Amino acid sequence: MTATNSDIEKAAGVLRAGGLVVFPTETVYGLGANAEDRAAVSRIFEVKGRPPSHPLIVHIAGVEHLGDWVENVPATARLLAEHFWPGPLTLVLRRGRRVPFEATGGLETVAVRVPDHPLALALLATFGGGVTAPSANRFGSVSPTTADHVRAELGDAVDFVLDGSPCQVGVESTIVDVTSDVPAVLRPGGVTREDLEAVLGYPLEVPSASRVRVPGQHPSHYAPRARVVLVDPEQVIAEAELARERGHRVGVFLPPPFADAPVKAHAVVAVPRSMAAYARGLYGFLRELDQRGCDLIIASLPPEEGLGLAIANRLRRAAGPRPSASNIPAPRP
Ligand code: TXA
Ligand code: MG
Repeated sequence: MTATNSDIEKAAGVLRAGGLVVFPTETVYGLGANAEDRAAVSRIFEVKGRPPSHPLIVHIAGVEHLGDWVENVPATARLLAEHFWPGPLTLVLRRGRRVPFEATGGLETVAVRVPDHPLALALLATFGGGVTAPSANRFGSVSPTTADHVRAELGDAVDFVLDGSPCQVGVESTIVDVTSDVPAVLRPGGVTREDLEAVLGYPLEVPSASRVRVPGQHPSHYAPRARVVLVDPEQVIAEAELARERGHRVGVFLPPPFADAPVKAHAVVAVPRSMAAYARGLYGFLRELDQRGCDLIIASLPPEEGLGLAIANRLRRAAGPRPSASNIPAPRP
């Protein structure tokens, strides 16, 4: 089902009344609140189970509103905003006075973006203000790319769900800190490093897997229930079959060169050859393997260029250490 104009009106009304609205963006579904309503913003953290120190992204209707939300707009920020918005790019800038500390986790900076989705843009235009929204999942788990994912995970905890089709990009926005002269990529995402460098005209520093640059980015973010283990592409089949012999219900991400190879496993996902299709499908694949009862997922990293950089980042985090061992299911006896 896709939302109608009256759904947009209703959703905007819910935001004005201090409620929470789930809405589709081109990247993932967001859990939105009126950015200037402290109580509503605080409720996002309760619903997600997210620590209040983890800042949110303020979504706005267009680049022309940027100045309303940030203290000043350096030339580099303006260049990137004008080039990539609407689109999967989030800019971190000095916080404007309209933005409450509830939204920034106490920081003097704020993350802002214009999403490239007709329903999100219609909602933002109708509502008229800024909408703070994290991905519409429980803290630490896989981001939702369909309205069904959201309902399965958040159910009645939200006031309204704007139903759109599956998200077209499938991984979250690229976050770039433009508060200093040297822009820094804090999270790889839907806008590639190559695209950014082409517009900037110089190379960018991208964080290594081990360094956590963004507050609120645990190593174990984006994790399904099943434990994720990363191996070399050539090793995927052998490792999966070994784990199966040891009693695991193994899900396999079969890399493109081995798409047709037979593999003894509980569930198999053939990884798309195109990185855009892989990004679009990634979170759905992880959810699917959870749903099919896998306790272990064997996967490999794609080449870390283009969208492959964001995919590899999410897979690494999905495979990262968990805050507690309790959510790792034991293998079958
Ligand atoms: O594609 C997306 O970005 C999606 C859609 C819904 O827009 N949103 C999203 O939100 O992924 P969330 O909350 O799951 O991730 C936002 C990230 C967090 O890792 C947070 O730490 C970072 O943005 N962030 C927010 N404000 C920041 C700030 N002032 N400085 C540095 N990082 C910030
Ligand atoms: Mg998230």
